[in-house]
Amino acid sequence: FFFQPHAGIRDPLWSRGLGDVYKRQQYMSDKNRIIIFDTTMRDGEQSPGASMSLEEKLQISRVFDELGVDIIEAGFPIASPGDFEAVTEISKTLKNSIPAGLARATKKDIDACHESLKHAKNFRIHTFISTSPLHMKHKLNKSPEEVLGAIKESVSYARKFTDDVEWSCEDGTRTDMDYMCKTVELAIKSGAKTINIPDTVGYTVPSEFKKIIETLINKVPNIDKAILSTHCHNDLGLAVANSLAGVMAGARQIECTINGIGERAGNAALEEVVMAMRTRHDLMPYTTNINTKLLSKASKVVSNATGFPVQFNKAVVGKNAFAHESGIHQDGMLKNRNTYEIMTPESVGVHKTSLVMGKHSGRHAFKDKLNDLGYVGVTDDVIQIAFGKFKVLADKKKHIYDEDIAAIVDDSLVTEDNVIKLKSLKVFAGTGEPQKAEMTLEVFGEVKKASETGDGPVDAIFKCIKKLYPHDVKLLLYNVHAVTEGTDAQATVSVRIEEKGKTTVGQAADTDTLVASANAYLSALNKLIIKRKKTAPDPSLSAQI
Ligand code: KIV
Ligand code: ZN
Repeated sequence: FFFQPHAGIRDPLWSRGLGDVYKRQQYMSDKNRIIIFDTTMRDGEQSPGASMSLEEKLQISRVFDELGVDIIEAGFPIASPGDFEAVTEISKTLKNSIPAGLARATKKDIDACHESLKHAKNFRIHTFISTSPLHMKHKLNKSPEEVLGAIKESVSYARKFTDDVEWSCEDGTRTDMDYMCKTVELAIKSGAKTINIPDTVGYTVPSEFKKIIETLINKVPNIDKAILSTHCHNDLGLAVANSLAGVMAGARQIECTINGIGERAGNAALEEVVMAMRTRHDLMPYTTNINTKLLSKASKVVSNATGFPVQFNKAVVGKNAFAHESGIHQDGMLKNRNTYEIMTPESVGVHKTSLVMGKHSGRHAFKDKLNDLGYVGVTDDVIQIAFGKFKVLADKKKHIYDEDIAAIVDDSLVTEDNVIKLKSLKVFAGTGEPQKAEMTLEVFGEVKKASETGDGPVDAIFKCIKKLYPHDVKLLLYNVHAVTEGTDAQATVSVRIEEKGKTTVGQAADTDTLVASANAYLSALNKLIIKRKKTAPDPSLSAQI
């Protein structure tokens, strides 16, 4: 006996004879279980300027693993040696989540995926090809028949390495429906266990997307052998709505990113789809494996790594998402929280800012605090560095809040590979005299000193760094924000720089904004130096994706 959720539509998941791979993951135990496929480190990293270092990706993947993400698309292994390395290292470390890699419909891409993913016990190869008339003609220069041939060949080739193969029809929502049905049927016949329907250009609307999924369920004869998935971009601000419409029509996997980052206007935001299904369970009786209490932490980790601040009014994870400003609302909240609150801040890991620790707090209490704040798998070395910084801060600052501790740890996580380090900094600022900085840096083990004047203290600092380590980069972003309130608050500074199309982001926190500025710039520069070491990406790539 199988429950039929939609009259007239075949049950999308429950009655499907999916292979061992899904039984192993127990997706089959619940017909309303939605698989969360995160692509923050692949599609998210395709956001202009959102590059992440290996260390940052490892940190993100640890948090996602703990968060309960089912599948983590860790990168596009053929795209660059950096992506290959990240997918390799991530696939070695995941405990619960299954790593995935992206591949075009070529053996070379699929081989690179397999090579980087093979360290994991279970892994997924995600291969794709465009199916819309526009893409087939102008991008691929292939006929619909040739694309069918490529689907058969690529999916069956990927199946040689794993039984967990996902196939995507790029530009799916602008694809002729009858042709899409043919491609999906063929991909399943060739061995794909997940069929992903991307709204690559963010063009569809919920009613149309729902119909696409329903049509596939009704017309593709072997659809019961695969899970249908959504992959919606946000060009019209509809990515989350479209993904949910897809699920209501029978899709059982959502591809999404934390903070909704991704190409152009981004992808469906993971935190939004998950909280929508949880909060409106009456209308969307679906479940996920996500520990929602870690959503806020995941959002911060991704924002720090990319240097993309989260907009204040961002749903679920924005600074103001649970703030009530007007008197009427505050009054209502005091009488009954349900008056203006549809989900609790605690349910997504937002806790009231609390005064937490002081200069007498010990290392043990500090470590416990990190666990409370959602920092999992932080190495002893990082804890040691962070604890040292905490002690220095506790001497300077009267009140230490959770946000201060988080800023310190984030600051400590990215410093291990640095080849240029700040030893000391003196700044002369104020009216009248030109602003001046005196700086000592350790550059590849050698201690060097310089002094420079500038158009403002930050300019003088950045000039000192350039003098001590000559380089030519474009400063794309310099951003300061206070971690907490008060004039003794720590400042977090973000710096984004670019050299020959390579972008890196550095961040640092300190009660002294100028020290934070120097460290943020150095952090971006250190990442750039690491990036330079890596060879150029595959030149055929830009022509094909
Ligand atoms: O948006 C898209 O079409 C993609 C595919 C590669 C899945 O990201
Ligand atoms: Zn995409």
